[in-house]
Amino acid sequence: MFLDVSGLTIVYVLIEIQSMKRPTIESILKEKRLFQPPAGFSENAHIKSLEQYKQLYEQAKADPQGFWADLAAQELHWFEKWTQVLDWQPPFVKWFVGGKMNISYNCLDRHLTTWRRNKAALIWEGEPGDSRTLTYAQLHREVCQMANVFKQLGVQKGDRVGIYMPMIPEAAIAMLACARIGAPHTVVFGGFSAEALKDRLVDAEAKLVVTADGGWRKDAIVPLKVQVDKALANDGAPSVENVLVVKRTAQEIKMEPGRDHWWHDLQATASPDCPAEPMDSEDMLFILYTSGTTGKPKGVVHTTGGYNLYTHMTLKWAFDIQDTDVYWCTADVGWITGHSYIVYGPLSNGATSLMYEGAPRPSNPGCLWDVVEKYGVNIFYTAPTAIRAFIKMGEHHLLSRNLSSLRLLGTVGEPINPEAWIWYHRIIGGERCPIVDTWWQTETGGFMLTPLPAATPTKPGSATLPFPGIIADVVDLEGNPVADNQGGYLVIRHPWPSMMRTVYGDPDRFRRTYWEHIAPKDGQYLYFAGDGARRDEDGYFWVMGRVDDVINVAGHRLGTMEIESALVSHPAVAEAAVVSKPDPVKGEDVVAFVTLEGSQNASDQLKDELKQHVVQEIGAIARPGEIRFTDALPKTRSGKIMRRLLRSLAGGQEIAGDTSTLEDRSVLDKLRGGA
Ligand code: WT7
Repeated sequence: MFLDVSGLTIVYVLIEIQSMKRPTIESILKEKRLFQPPAGFSENAHIKSLEQYKQLYEQAKADPQGFWADLAAQELHWFEKWTQVLDWQPPFVKWFVGGKMNISYNCLDRHLTTWRRNKAALIWEGEPGDSRTLTYAQLHREVCQMANVFKQLGVQKGDRVGIYMPMIPEAAIAMLACARIGAPHTVVFGGFSAEALKDRLVDAEAKLVVTADGGWRKDAIVPLKVQVDKALANDGAPSVENVLVVKRTAQEIKMEPGRDHWWHDLQATASPDCPAEPMDSEDMLFILYTSGTTGKPKGVVHTTGGYNLYTHMTLKWAFDIQDTDVYWCTADVGWITGHSYIVYGPLSNGATSLMYEGAPRPSNPGCLWDVVEKYGVNIFYTAPTAIRAFIKMGEHHLLSRNLSSLRLLGTVGEPINPEAWIWYHRIIGGERCPIVDTWWQTETGGFMLTPLPAATPTKPGSATLPFPGIIADVVDLEGNPVADNQGGYLVIRHPWPSMMRTVYGDPDRFRRTYWEHIAPKDGQYLYFAGDGARRDEDGYFWVMGRVDDVINVAGHRLGTMEIESALVSHPAVAEAAVVSKPDPVKGEDVVAFVTLEGSQNASDQLKDELKQHVVQEIGAIARPGEIRFTDALPKTRSGKIMRRLLRSLAGGQEIAGDTSTLEDRSVLDKLRGGA
C-alpha cells in the first residue's frame, strides 16, 4: 500500500509497469498509425478543425476563468449569476461562487419551451424485450412526481438518498428527482453485495433508499430488494427511514410495513408540479463511492454548477452531439460514466440518450447490435473489455446486422490495445467512424484527455490531447515534467469545473490521496490521478494504467486492500495479498495469495468458498479469478508485503528487480514451487 511508504513504492510500480511484458503496453508504445478525422465529418461538427481546437485550448489556457465563465453563461440556465468564477484554495475549489441553478432544470425544464419538448429524452430497451421511450415532457412529469414523493417521505434539501437500481428509466428519474429538490444521491451499482451497499448507505447516512424488486441480468433476475433488506437488517444502516421499490420483475418480495413503499402506489397520487429548487452552484449534487488504495471505498463528492457545465461541454464537443443523434453509452448508472454520460451530460444537451438493461449473453450474443439497428444508434460508447469480448464472440454476429447508422464511437475505462481499436474501427465503425478514446475518472467528473472527432487525428491506444481548459502533464515525483516518451505520473495543473470537491466526510483523505504524492511546485498544486503515462513527440498522451494498488478488472475499479479485507474476514484465512495478472478480455484479473489458519486444509472446495465469500462481501465484479494457497507471503523486514514479486508470479514471469529487502528468501522458492 503505497500511502504508507511515501513515493518509493510508486516508483517501483512504475518501473515495473515500464518493464512489464504486457502486450497491451508494448504494442501501444510501438503504435505509429495516424487516423485523420473522416472527410465530411467536420461540416456540421461543433468543433470543426484542429486549428479551432488549438485556438480554444490556448484561449482556455491563457484565461481559464474567462473561458469557463463565457461557456457557463451561454450554455446553461442560471436563476442567479455567480459573483466569483473561481475560488481556489488548494486543494479545495469552488466554481461559479454565489451562482444559483438546478441541474434538473437544465436537463429538463429549459427544453420544454422549445421543440425538444416532445423529443425522446430517454429510450429504454429492457432485457426481456420491454421498451419505453420518454420524451422530455414525460420525463419532466415523472421527475416532478418523484420529487414530490421524496418530499412526502421526509427527504429535505441536503438529505442523502441511496439509489440501488437496475438499468431502468426509474434510476435516472430518481437521480433527477434528487437533484430537483437538492437531495444529494449516492447511486450504488446493482452488482454490489448487501454488505457493500450497507457500507455506502452508512457512510453517506442515507435517509431514503430507492430500489426495485429485481432487475434482469443475462436472462436471470438480480434480487435487489432482498439485498436492501439484508443491508438494513439489525439496524445495519440506521439513518434509512424509508425504502421506495419499483416493480420491475414482479417476483415475490417482502414489504416491511411503514418502511417500504411501492413506487407506483405513491406516484399515482403525486402531483406533477414541483419547481426546481434553486441550488447554490457549490451545493453537493452527489456522492459516488470508488475504490482507492486504502481499505474503504471513498465517497467522491461532486457539486452542481461546475459538474453541469463540464459534463455538458465535454459531451457536446467530444461526442459532437447533434439533435438528430441517438446516443448510446453502455455503462451502468451505478458508475460515473452513467452519471455523466447517460444522464446529466446528454440531457443537459437536450440529446436522446439510450439506456439498455441487457448484456450480451449466450442466448443472444449479438443483442447489442440488434439495439443499434432497432433504434438507428448514431453514437456508441463502450469499454475496451466489451470490445475484446465482441472480438471473441466472432464477426458472424455482426454480418447479419446493419450498423450503418453509426457515425461516432467512443471508448473508456482502461487503455485500449491497438488491436481492439483497429477492430472497433474496421468492424463496428465500418472505417468511417472516428473513435474517441476518453481518459477520465470518477474524480474528474468528465473527459480530461480525448480527441474531438472532427479535429484530432487519432492514434490507436492514445487518448490523444487534453480537452480545452485542461492542463495535463507527465511529471516525476518532484513535479518536474519528464522528457517526451519518458514514463511518469499523469497530473493536472489547473482546477477544472467538475473536479471532485472532497472525500465525503474526510477532507484530509482528499488532500492525502490526490495532492501530496507530488510536492507542490512553485506554489502550484498538481492533481495526482494515480495513472502512469507518457507523452509522445506530438504531445499525445498514452495512459499506461494505475501506479497504485488499484486494479482494473473489466473496466471496474477495485482496491486490492478491499479484496484482501474481504478474504481475511473469512475464518479460514490468516493473511491475504491480492494482485492482478493480465487477462486477454478483462484487461486484468484478480489473483489472491492466501495463507490459511493453522488447522485449515487447502482444497479446491475452500478456493471456491473463498471466491464466493468475496462475492458476498463486495460483489461478483471482485470475484478472484485465481486463489493460490501459500505457507507464507513475501515480506520486507519491516513487514510489508512485496506485491511486485507476487505480481510477477501471478503473471507467470520471472522475478526481476531487487529482492534484497525480502526477509525470508526461501518464501520465494516455496511460492514458485507451490501454489
Ligand atoms: C481509471 C478511472 C471514467 C470512467 C470509467 C472509469 C482508467 C479510464 C481510460 C482510458 C486509459 C483509462 C484509468 C483511470 N481509465 N479511462 N481512456 N485510457 N485508462 O472510471 O472507475 O474512476 O477509473 O480508469 O486508470 O485512473 P474509474
